[in-house]
Amino acid sequence: MALRDNRFANINSLYNKQVLICGDTGCRSSKSDEMEEEIREALKEANAEEKIDVVRVGCFGLCEAGPIAVVYPGGKFYAYLKEGDGRRIVKEDLLGDKTIDELIYPESLSDDIVKSIYDVSFYTKQKKIAHKNCGVINPDSIEEYIALDGYLGLHKALNEMSPQEVIDEIKESGLRGRGGGGFPTGLKWQFTKDAEGSPKYVLCNADEGDPGAFMDRSILEGDPYSVIEAMTIAGYAINANYGFIYIRAEYPSAVEKLESSIKKAKELGLLGNNIMGTDFSFDLELRLGAGAFVCGEEMALIESIEGKRGIPRNKPPFPANEGLWGKPTLINNVETYANIAQIIYKGSDWFSSIGTEKSHGTKVFTLGGNIKRTGIIEVPMGTTLRDIIYEIGGGIIGDKEFKAVQTGGPSGGCITKDYLDTPIDYDNLTALGSMMGSGGMIVMDDSTCMVDIARFFLEFTVDESCGKCTPCREGTKRMLEILEKIVAGKGTLEDIDTLENLGNMIKISSLCGLGQSAPNPVLSTLRYFRDEYEAHVVDKKCPAGHCKALLEYYIDDTCIGCRKCARNCPVNCISGKPKEVHVIDTEACIKCGNCMEVCPTNSVHLR
Ligand SMILES: Cc1cc2nc3c(=O)[nH]c(=O)nc-3n(C[C@H](O)[C@H](O)[C@H](O)COP(=O)(O)O)c2cc1C
Ligand code: SF4
Ligand code: SF4
Ligand code: SF4
Ligand code: FES
Repeated sequence: MALRDNRFANINSLYNKQVLICGDTGCRSSKSDEMEEEIREALKEANAEEKIDVVRVGCFGLCEAGPIAVVYPGGKFYAYLKEGDGRRIVKEDLLGDKTIDELIYPESLSDDIVKSIYDVSFYTKQKKIAHKNCGVINPDSIEEYIALDGYLGLHKALNEMSPQEVIDEIKESGLRGRGGGGFPTGLKWQFTKDAEGSPKYVLCNADEGDPGAFMDRSILEGDPYSVIEAMTIAGYAINANYGFIYIRAEYPSAVEKLESSIKKAKELGLLGNNIMGTDFSFDLELRLGAGAFVCGEEMALIESIEGKRGIPRNKPPFPANEGLWGKPTLINNVETYANIAQIIYKGSDWFSSIGTEKSHGTKVFTLGGNIKRTGIIEVPMGTTLRDIIYEIGGGIIGDKEFKAVQTGGPSGGCITKDYLDTPIDYDNLTALGSMMGSGGMIVMDDSTCMVDIARFFLEFTVDESCGKCTPCREGTKRMLEILEKIVAGKGTLEDIDTLENLGNMIKISSLCGLGQSAPNPVLSTLRYFRDEYEAHVVDKKCPAGHCKALLEYYIDDTCIGCRKCARNCPVNCISGKPKEVHVIDTEACIKCGNCMEVCPTNSVHLR
């Protein structure tokens, strides 16, 4: 933000104003490219291209409000833009100096005062470290990255610190891996540095396979140099001269950004031989993955880079000792790396002062589900779920009742409203039967059936299991069959016990983290919502009114007897005389829903 506002403090500034447009995948899917084009065209027609700077930036976080355009000075926040709004912004605001009230994000405007984007409640409880440059700098510009303290960390490491001092600083910061496991980063760097063997490799895990999660993609699209700089620092610390970023091919925009950023860093002597004029050399390449969830598992990822099928290997040996091509290998997640350069140049004390006693710093989450404001957030460790869901996320859509939040993606668990005031950190989430995972957070309202949610996540892990070990390959399938039986109204109490026993067995006997955590959504919903499972199998009811097989169609007394439903019922199970209330034979009904669809008076319902 300072970068933006400071531009206008300089009287020789080339531009009068800047407009920042989110060019991240989320906003592009709601037509931000067209918005940018419209703004550029309008400026050209007005001969104002020299006066107004149009900057394409990464994700602002509040993706739900996209496409977004932010006007500086001031940070005026235009949201939910549609065709034609770009031209209005040019004419009325950028050239006319007038705020367009109806296009401003509603909360930004109060009593005729226009708040900056970062003063709206979505942002005030956040703290940006890994995401500090996203939505601020032009990710294609290494100059803008450098202007906001980029490469200070690498410069300090290479010129003022020994490799061991770098590792000590990371250790003292207390940074833990953001890719799911939460392993202490400094310790992992130490193991790799101390391991015998050469060459050594630095890997970045940008596979990000959790459904709906895009924390890492937003860093790579919005601030690619933060990861490149951190991997270079890691190379110096562990004595490696080569690294790979493993990224799924389904992220074409991030791939493009990384390719051009690596090229630019090489041109400026920030990658390649004798970096910054020192003896240290380091180079980077990309490796594209085909999108299998299991390839995010570090051993499967290494197999995949080696050109083999992505299947986990036994551990130990760990990658620090025998990783890529059998050599000592450091592997960290994108968000983990995005913290590194700042820890080095600001110091471990600064980082460890943020967060809780055992979990330092911040965590990026993808906020989704039945919540008003969806997108990407970054909060200090220790922030409560209540603050995230109600203060940042704006509460539940339609002001419905909160039911649960799923953290940790398909391997995580559900947390109920009794724990809304729990400060989020690695240990608290694990104690609640869930996990931090890589940062997916799905909020659910009271219309969500927890048995069906468990079925949904298990379906995902069954699809993604690599099949190498029996407990995961066969066991998760059997669990899914039982869940399908329960939501179809054919389950028994014994099935619930079998689910629990199988789940606990799969957890302890599977080879890799996928199988070890696949039962979590089932076990955590059983822990907190056992009564819902029992209602499905004993009363043959779905308390949330979601599982179709357990609901019945009925006609209320507003029916006018038009006979439309009876004519459209494929099994002729609706009876009644014309102009009289009709009745459904629930035994014969096959629940096709036709009657509900055709009824002109909305007299057909489910219960
Ligand atoms: C099935 C499975 C999928 C995983 N997917 C990812 C992923 O997409 N990104 C990631 O960084 N870590 C993922 N992990 C964790 C990695 O194995 C590894 O722990 C992580 O990359 C280490 O980096 P960190 O210490 O910085 O977290 C996955 C683990 C499992 C078991
Ligand atoms: S636990 Fe599942 S994903 Fe992991 S190795 Fe076994 S079969 Fe493959
Ligand atoms: S749901 Fe289908 S089968 Fe059942 S009563 Fe309505 S139209 Fe007939
Ligand atoms: S379509 Fe609706 S109004 Fe007509 S008979 Fe059926 S339930 Fe009654
Ligand atoms: S993708 Fe545009 S704000 Fe997130």
